[in-house]
Amino acid sequence: MKRPSLLFCLFCLFGGSAAAYANPPGHALASAHPAATEAGLEILNAGGNAFDAAVAVSAVLGVVEPYGSGLGGGGFFLLHDSARNHTTMLDARERAPLAAHRDLYLDADGNVDRDRALNGPLAAGIPGIAAAWGHLAEHYGQLPLAHTLEPAIRYAQNGVPLNPELERAMTARAEVLLRYPASSIFTPGSPALSSGTRIVQTDLASTLGLLAEQGAQAFYRGPLAETLVAEVQDSGGIWSRQDLEQYQVVEREPITIHWRNAEIVTVAPPSATGVMLAQVFHMLGEDWLDGGDHDARIHRLIEALRRAYLERARHLGDPDHVDVPVQQLTSVEYARKLMADFDPEHATRSKSLYATEPEAGHTTHFSILDRDGNWVSATLSINGLFGSGFVVPGTGVLLNNEMDDFSAKPGTPNLYGLVGSEANAIAPGKRMLSSMAPTAVYHANSLALLGTPGGSRITTMVMQGILQFLQGADAESLVTSPRLHHQALPDKVFTEPDAVVDRERLEARGHVFEVVEPWGNMQVVVWDIREARLEAASDPRGIGSAEVEALHVGN
Ligand code: GLY
Repeated sequence: MKRPSLLFCLFCLFGGSAAAYANPPGHALASAHPAATEAGLEILNAGGNAFDAAVAVSAVLGVVEPYGSGLGGGGFFLLHDSARNHTTMLDARERAPLAAHRDLYLDADGNVDRDRALNGPLAAGIPGIAAAWGHLAEHYGQLPLAHTLEPAIRYAQNGVPLNPELERAMTARAEVLLRYPASSIFTPGSPALSSGTRIVQTDLASTLGLLAEQGAQAFYRGPLAETLVAEVQDSGGIWSRQDLEQYQVVEREPITIHWRNAEIVTVAPPSATGVMLAQVFHMLGEDWLDGGDHDARIHRLIEALRRAYLERARHLGDPDHVDVPVQQLTSVEYARKLMADFDPEHATRSKSLYATEPEAGHTTHFSILDRDGNWVSATLSINGLFGSGFVVPGTGVLLNNEMDDFSAKPGTPNLYGLVGSEANAIAPGKRMLSSMAPTAVYHANSLALLGTPGGSRITTMVMQGILQFLQGADAESLVTSPRLHHQALPDKVFTEPDAVVDRERLEARGHVFEVVEPWGNMQVVVWDIREARLEAASDPRGIGSAEVEALHVGN
C-alpha cells in the first residue's frame, strides 16, 4: 500500500497538539521483553494496527515476564485513534471483590496483616486485562483475538527461555510460590522447567486459546470463570461469580496538562500520577526550564514532589466511588497555594508518623506507534513481583496482589511506602489507587510516548522523562538518564549513583540524600515530524528491546 511520505513539513506549521499529527514514516515500538517487541512487529507487519499490536504485546509480556503483568492483572492503556483524532484512557484496573470491606486486612489488634494483603488469593483484585483485550479488539483493532493472541499462545506452549531477570524474580518469591501447587511452575526444580532452560505454561496456553476462540468474555462467564471463582474460594479468597460478571473496563478522559508549549496527555484517577504531574509542573512554574541556579531548581523540584505526594495521600482514590475534584487539584491557582509555604533556602519537612522505604514495582510498560499515526502507551501490572504468587489451578492464570494498593488502614504505608487516606480505603467494587502513568507528550513538532514500572517511583520517572523531552533529549537519553526520587515519606531524596546533583549544597538546605541501586524500565517511542524520523528506546536497566521499521514509498 502506498503511504504518504513527504507531507511532514505541512505539520510543521502547527503547534503541539494531537490534531496536527498524521502519518509517521513507519512504525515503532518498545517493550520490556524482546519476544513482546517481536510479537508487536509481527502483528503490525501482518496488517494489524497499534491496538492489535497492543493486545499481542501485552499477552506476550504476561507469558514471558510473568512476574510483572498478565491475564491475572490490570492496567491502563492510553490510546490515540488517528482517524477519529480521539485520545482516551482505557482503564482496565482491577476492582475490589464485592465481599471486600474497609478492614479486610486488619488483624484482631487492628494492625494490617501484610501477609494476607500481599500473598495468596485474598490479595487479588478482579482482573481487567482480558476485558481490555476484548475492548481493544472490538472497538479499535482490525484483527481478531484469534490472531493477536497467537504469539502468546506459542510462547506459553513452546516455553519461555529462562533469563537472569526471571530467575532472580523466581528466587525472590519462591517462599510464596511454593505455598500453592499450581504456582510451582515458577519454582526451581519444577517439571514445567523443561531441561532447566525454559518454562512451559500449558494451562495458560489453553486459557489463552479459549479466549482466542470464544472472546474475552470467556474469562468472566462460563466454565473458566467458574473455575477461577471456585479455586480462589478454596484457597481463602473471596471472589464471586458476580465479581467477574460485573467487571467492565472504563474509557476515561485523560488529563491534559499545558505547560510551556507542550501538551502532556496522561492518566486520570484511579491513577494518581496525572493529577500529581499537573501539580508538579505548575508548582515548578513555566520558567523552571529556562536555566538559573541548578541547586535552586533541584530544591524547587524536590519541594514540588514532596507536596504532590502528600496531596496524593490526602485526596486521591477511585473517582467512581469518591469525589476527586480533578479540575481544582490540577489548576495553576491550586499549585500556587501548595507552594505558599515554599522556602527557597530551606527544605520543608513532611510531617507524619509513618515512613517506610519506597520499593520499585514489578509492573511493565510498552509504547507503540503505527504507520497510520495510531498510538498506544500502556502500563500494566500484577503489582508485586509475581503478584499474589497464586496461580489458579487448571488455568495458568497468576493472580495480582493489587489489593495492597488500597489503604488497608488509612495512614499506614503499603508495599511502596505510600500512605493513603479514606479516599483510597477498601470498598466493594472499588478500584485501588495506582501510580501507573502511560503518557504522551506533544512538543515542538514531536511526539513522545513513555512510561515505566516502578511503583511509587513511576511518577518521578515519568516527570523526569517529560522534562528531558521538553529540553530536546532523544529517546535513548530518556531511558538512560540517571534518576532522582522524593515521595514526601520517607523524607529523603533517593538518587541513582550517577545522578548529577550537588549533594552538599542541597544538604545545606536541609535535604537528606540516599544513593540506591538503579531503578525503572522505561520504554519510549519518539516521532520527530519535522525530520520525519522515528526513534524507539528500551531502558538498559531491563532486558527489553525497541524497534523502528521505516516504510518506504511503494510499500
Ligand atoms: N501496582 C502499582 C501501581 O498500580 O501503582
